[in-house]
Amino acid sequence: MKQNKWRTHHSEGARRIIVTKDLPGRRWLEILAEADCRIDICTSEETLHRQEILAFIGNQCDGAIGQLTESWGETLFKALKKAGGTAYSNYAVGFNNVDVAAATRHNIPVGNTPGVLTETTAEMAVALTFAVARRTGEAERFMRAGKFKGWLPDLFTGHLLWRKTLGIVGAGRIGEAYARMMVEGHKMNVIYYDLHANQALEIFIADYSRFLESQGQSGVTCKRVLNIEDLLLQADCVSIHTILDDSTRHLFNADRLAKMKTDAILINTSRGPVIDESALVDHCRANPDFRAGLDVFEDEPAMKPGLADLDNVVVVPHIASATRWTREGMATLAACNVAGILLGHPLWQQSEILPFLENEPPKAIPSIVNAEILGKKSLSIVSRHNMNRFNEQTEV
Ligand code: DGY
Repeated sequence: MKQNKWRTHHSEGARRIIVTKDLPGRRWLEILAEADCRIDICTSEETLHRQEILAFIGNQCDGAIGQLTESWGETLFKALKKAGGTAYSNYAVGFNNVDVAAATRHNIPVGNTPGVLTETTAEMAVALTFAVARRTGEAERFMRAGKFKGWLPDLFTGHLLWRKTLGIVGAGRIGEAYARMMVEGHKMNVIYYDLHANQALEIFIADYSRFLESQGQSGVTCKRVLNIEDLLLQADCVSIHTILDDSTRHLFNADRLAKMKTDAILINTSRGPVIDESALVDHCRANPDFRAGLDVFEDEPAMKPGLADLDNVVVVPHIASATRWTREGMATLAACNVAGILLGHPLWQQSEILPFLENEPPKAIPSIVNAEILGKKSLSIVSRHNMNRFNEQTEV
């Protein structure tokens, strides 16, 4: 364990919760303290290794809040169970770092934090889209280097996205929020690729189109495709919002990148391994008009060789959900997940998660990804439909 890098809150609590990184805000601490928990927090910024987490779990541990940077699998869930643990929550909506099957084998519910990252992450996807389209990274480096010698007709000319075609890969909550922002703001036509039809998005765009037409403007369209290649061929800008699993790992490989328009834009705020990053480096080198905006990386925190040298790529360090409101909300939801399980609350059955951020949160567990498989008495079974609504990013 990192020396002197931990602190305890509410040491008199009868239950013991470990939290592998300090979290923002105070509300999450209050929620756990009210559930009679002693909260042991690792305050190191370094990622804890498995052995360190095992030591942290120790002989008595009722529950844990872990990070997307840690691999929670058989060893850790077995140790958690042995130490008396019955609850785990990821401090993230994504849970590709968790072996859910292992947790389920040990009868441990796995919580996540949907509903508070939606607009925040979508806004970052928008920010990256325009940073890339209008070349703000390159232009800022140019400016800071004192290279600006006066206005020029062709200085950093970029792409206009107004009325162009947007491709959404994974139309869950975040993909939908991003699409709405780009449709309302920039009148883009949407093509989306997802296992499930997103009727709310389709209805919104149809209604908005009618509104535009009523104002004497051209409408906008929304089309779902069943084949990702159809989307890649047509879209001027593609934004990725899928979960990461075996079906989406390297979904964007050299072949699929080659199908995209040579001056297309590719945005990723989901998980790095959805793109074959080395193939992207090669593609961006060979196609200088192709542009990518990345919040996530295949070997995070590292970038594949060559990526950092490319002017047609904008990179930010996995900060799409980094607003104060969202990060505190995630902490509150993670705490409600763990406290709710320990107190035997039922699973929340509504897709609206914001009541948990109020002073008197519902006496329920906000979101458990293996609830259906566990089918525990304390966790009312949710339908597959509900599970999908709870997922921020979706399967494609
Ligand atoms: C998540 O919650 O999965 C995000 O990636 C955190 O930014």
